[in-house]
Amino acid sequence: MDPLLDVKGLTVGFGTDDGVVQAVRGVDFEVRSGEILAIVGESGSGKSVTAMSLLKLLPPSATIEGSVDWAGESLLDASEQRMQAVRGNEIAMIFQDPLSALNPVYKVGQQIAEMVHSHRKVSKADARARAVEMLTQVGIPQPEKRVNQFPHEFSGGMRQRAMIAMGLSCEPRLIVADEPTTALDVTVQAQVLDLLVDLCHRLSTAVILITHDLGVVAGIADRVTVMYAGRVVESGSVDDVFDATAHPYTAGLLSSLPRLDGDVAAPLVPIAGQPPSMLNPPSGCSFHPRCPFAKEEAGCMTIVPTLDERRPGQLSACHRAPELIETGALLRVGAPA
Ligand SMILES: Nc1ncnc2c1ncn2[C@@H]1O[C@H](COP(=O)(O)OP(=O)(O)OP(=O)(O)O)[C@@H](O)[C@H]1O
Ligand SMILES: [Mg+2]
Repeated sequence: MDPLLDVKGLTVGFGTDDGVVQAVRGVDFEVRSGEILAIVGESGSGKSVTAMSLLKLLPPSATIEGSVDWAGESLLDASEQRMQAVRGNEIAMIFQDPLSALNPVYKVGQQIAEMVHSHRKVSKADARARAVEMLTQVGIPQPEKRVNQFPHEFSGGMRQRAMIAMGLSCEPRLIVADEPTTALDVTVQAQVLDLLVDLCHRLSTAVILITHDLGVVAGIADRVTVMYAGRVVESGSVDDVFDATAHPYTAGLLSSLPRLDGDVAAPLVPIAGQPPSMLNPPSGCSFHPRCPFAKEEAGCMTIVPTLDERRPGQLSACHRAPELIETGALLRVGAPA
């Protein structure tokens, strides 16, 4: 089956007074119809810039290269008029902070109805009825009353549910959810994510779930793409990436997570060091300054590693991957010495 979304060589730079910020550097990924793809990486790895590129929501200082194929159509070549028809209707976006995405001066129901009305030939009354129906679907109590309230009258969790309601109101084929729950407390986070995934499964909506927390990916996503310093370093099914990690950075992310399988004795080991500046990213493999396995002879400091298949459907960009996989070294990252 052809992918619904096929991104190839996506490259985004921002011109600034200090030089060009190389936010995204040749990213490839695809999303199939109805599947949930997680994009994971530390702060600054280029996740949001990647998401915004898909819908061409970047500021004028950005230059974009590469290709974004949306069901056979090139979105990077599409007109602004066409993009307005795509946004919300074919691809919807849910942001981290619903207060900045919801307009504070309009009632929540009005905003959902407006979204429906702008894309569908429906009457105002039908659009409003759709808003009530969507608020009901996302589990907002008393939707008939809530539809007439303003965003500030909703709790954080309710606002995020309202964003999901708005996102799904036109039945898009893809939802891009950028850290949709980070502003919420942990129990509400899990509820909202479960709700999003459950609704998307029911409607066969594909999801790109962006998060810096590999922990939320388990049990929710089908596949995962791990980004570091604007590049993809590993991708594959969630099971393969978790159980048979093929990149030292992913191994580092995993060892910094609380273990759910009961091994409470295993220490939580954060990855040493800081993500690099994208004005002047490290040479060779960008992860080499923080990588416990980096070796001069392997080319880690000088040669950019290519993203190669390690197992069927699992790719990683690491010069030493074959050897590290073979010896099981990546599975022991963070284990007591
Ligand atoms: N408008 C902009 N102008 C200049 N640099 C930018 C701009 N937007 C983003 N960047 C830079 O691009 C890089 C990638 O940013 P991005 O927001 O995609 O990271 P992220 O992975 O989403 O991080 P986070 O987890 O913190 O949301 C960062 O170095 C960031 O500072
Ligand atoms: Mg972000």
